Amino acid sequence: MKSVVIQQPGQLDITERSRPEPAAGEVRVKVKLAGICGSDSHIYRGHNPFAKYPRVIGHEFFGIIDAVGEGVPAERLGQRVSVDPVISCGHCYPCSVGKPNVCTSLVVLGVHRDGGFSEYAVVPEANAWVIPDAIADEDAVMVEPFTIAANVTGHASPTEQDVALVYGAGPMGLTTVQALKGVYNVKQLIVVDRIEERLKMAQGCGADLVINNSNVNLQAVLEEKGIKPTLIIDAACHPSILPEAIALASPAARIVIMGFSSEPCQIVQQGITGKELSIFSSRLNARKFPVVIDWLQRGLIDPTKLVTHKFDYHHVADAIELFEKDQRQCCKVLLTFN
Ligand code: NAI
Ligand code: MN
Ligand code: ZN
Repeated sequence: MKSVVIQQPGQLDITERSRPEPAAGEVRVKVKLAGICGSDSHIYRGHNPFAKYPRVIGHEFFGIIDAVGEGVPAERLGQRVSVDPVISCGHCYPCSVGKPNVCTSLVVLGVHRDGGFSEYAVVPEANAWVIPDAIADEDAVMVEPFTIAANVTGHASPTEQDVALVYGAGPMGLTTVQALKGVYNVKQLIVVDRIEERLKMAQGCGADLVINNSNVNLQAVLEEKGIKPTLIIDAACHPSILPEAIALASPAARIVIMGFSSEPCQIVQQGITGKELSIFSSRLNARKFPVVIDWLQRGLIDPTKLVTHKFDYHHVADAIELFEKDQRQCCKVLLTFN
């Protein structure tokens, strides 16, 4: 089989490898579609501190189970599945409180262990979630990015009273925008970005108001319009955003951050306590695959609105380069495997 291997930072090869056999408790997935994410590019470029090389990248993938390991029922053969990349131990403290996404021995497919940019991938049976026939392949491959939004909204519990503000209209911001409107029907949804084309996409995904903050003071614009966000999601993840969000927020608001910056930022406690703000962080997903599959079945979200390009996996290097260079035209880029 062929696999997309990052041999070392900067070196991507499409390599012939022997087809893996599923171990006990595992299934083998014949991959049909995979999505390119920022973290794939970070591993490729050597910017992910968790990555070990050589590595088959890819943590957003969909395919068909074509072999099962010992102890896995034969009924699973032929199932269409989306794969949850989060592998956890099941008994540490975070696992015991429902946060397998921060398991003390967390393994993420495509980061710590070989992932889905490959003709075949072996994964734990429990990570392969069955996709109902009514859900198209192109939607099924997008389950993982929407689980990030499901995790974020799971922390914040949005309501129809919320005035929500989302920073960033990249793939992560847009999945969150779709969830806030389509699933939770928030009262007003504002999206902030610096790229006009992305703000257009945000409108297509349900934003009521979009603001390009490249040349304006966001706080002043919101004050002028009398908007006090009750729920703020930072899907742009610059360290300067959290202090601004704290200043913008309504009393009793919730803020969710999802960035991994190692740069410090300055926060004044009074700004948080004075308004009794709740600040959550969200990483990956804690068993949100069934949640998103349900959203898809009920037609509450439309992943195809995020997909701008599709490449045969042989062109993966070009696909990643385009994804990195052209944020105006590119949002989610898919790879097809045969
Ligand atoms: P992206 O780079 O495609 O999108 C970020 C967007 O934010 C861009 O459109 C950019 O123009 C905009 N932006 C940057 N600075 C801004 C600012 N100061 N104000 C307004 N807009 C600004 O990235 P993607 O894939 O959407 O991911 C977003 C972030 O989420 C990344 O930092 C990534 O590391 C993080 N992430 C976190 C996850 C988690 O589970 N916590 C999972 C996946 C991504
Ligand atoms: Mn991803
Ligand atoms: Zn654990």
